[in-house]
Amino acid sequence: MNKKIAVLPGDGIGPEVIEQAIKVLEAIADRFHHQFHYNFGLVGATAIDKTGSPLPDETLETSLQSDAVLFGAIGDPKYDMDPNAKVRPEQGLLAIRKNLGLYCNIRPVKAYPSLIKYSPLKEDIVRPVDMVIFRELTGGIYFGEKGRSAEGSTAFDHCSYHVEEIERIAQEAFKAARLRRNKVTLVDKANVLETSRLWRDTVTKLAKKDYPEVSLDYLFVDNAAMQIILNPGQFDVILTENMFGDILSDEASVITGSIGMLPSASVGSKTSMYEPIHGSYPQGAGKDIANPIATILSAAMMLEHWGMTNEAQTIRDGIDVYLANGFGTEDLKPSYKLSCSQTGDLIASIIEGEPLNQQKLEKLKAGMSTII
Ligand code: IPM
Ligand code: MG
Repeated sequence: MNKKIAVLPGDGIGPEVIEQAIKVLEAIADRFHHQFHYNFGLVGATAIDKTGSPLPDETLETSLQSDAVLFGAIGDPKYDMDPNAKVRPEQGLLAIRKNLGLYCNIRPVKAYPSLIKYSPLKEDIVRPVDMVIFRELTGGIYFGEKGRSAEGSTAFDHCSYHVEEIERIAQEAFKAARLRRNKVTLVDKANVLETSRLWRDTVTKLAKKDYPEVSLDYLFVDNAAMQIILNPGQFDVILTENMFGDILSDEASVITGSIGMLPSASVGSKTSMYEPIHGSYPQGAGKDIANPIATILSAAMMLEHWGMTNEAQTIRDGIDVYLANGFGTEDLKPSYKLSCSQTGDLIASIIEGEPLNQQKLEKLKAGMSTII
């Protein structure tokens, strides 16, 4: 296949982790005879510094004309310290979601056997974790009218949802559940919020009509936050609105041991976008220490979306070989510590099928790399 990928590295460690994902994509291209074309664009604080805009028109144009967007990370401490800044890196991310119509954000959370010991939770609780969060991404309080009263002492953020906005993401969540364990949990605050009651009515009707084989249950968001810690293994597909999904997906992402491992996909009416869940980790930028696996797994989700199932599985298998041999970036507290770029090189060479004989692995483990 021939595919055009818009690459938006963004801020902080974004460029470093993206570089590794591209190495891995090139290894896949070689092995499976595909051609990937990369068009780079500016986004976030880097884009503000160079153009004044967090999402320059050119970046949006490139994204719209590509088959997918591979996104690094955005955010810079100089803006985090100033919540009143008029132009902010986050606006670039929200604008690209809105302009590409990315209404469905998919965040899988799965326990890796070799990392379970680093979870803040007990091993027995984490071992069965295999859930995916479907977060609505272009509606709700994030995109509602917001403002301040004239004298500045009152502020508001409007939350609204239309039935169609709920139905389209619910369809995606139910379709995913059918390929998994046939269970959807709708998370809302229907005991208080009218938008949540609309979510319940809409999702209940849709489930009865189109997905009778999928079991649907409901949790209030406060209880869901508790259940994700107490018994995360109970979840298969979690379906929820924009802000609840933002909060719960951060919570869920840390229970498996490293946030540096979790990918995401945002799909919608136009080009889809793939990005790691972690942020721009400015303290680690330029040091070649970041964990690129979340971004590499995001690239695997992109291939999966194009129907390249074997290719995606080859990436996941490559990562398993890497982890099972005790390699890892420093956040994984591995037996054999590698840098971000060494991690990309090693996973790419595993994928290319370069025979990784024991001698080579031992040399690598002793820090005397022959491959990298
Ligand atoms: C996320 C992030 C964004 C969000 C921020 C950076 C605007 O937290 O992707 O989860 O709130 O959606
Ligand atoms: Mg978030």
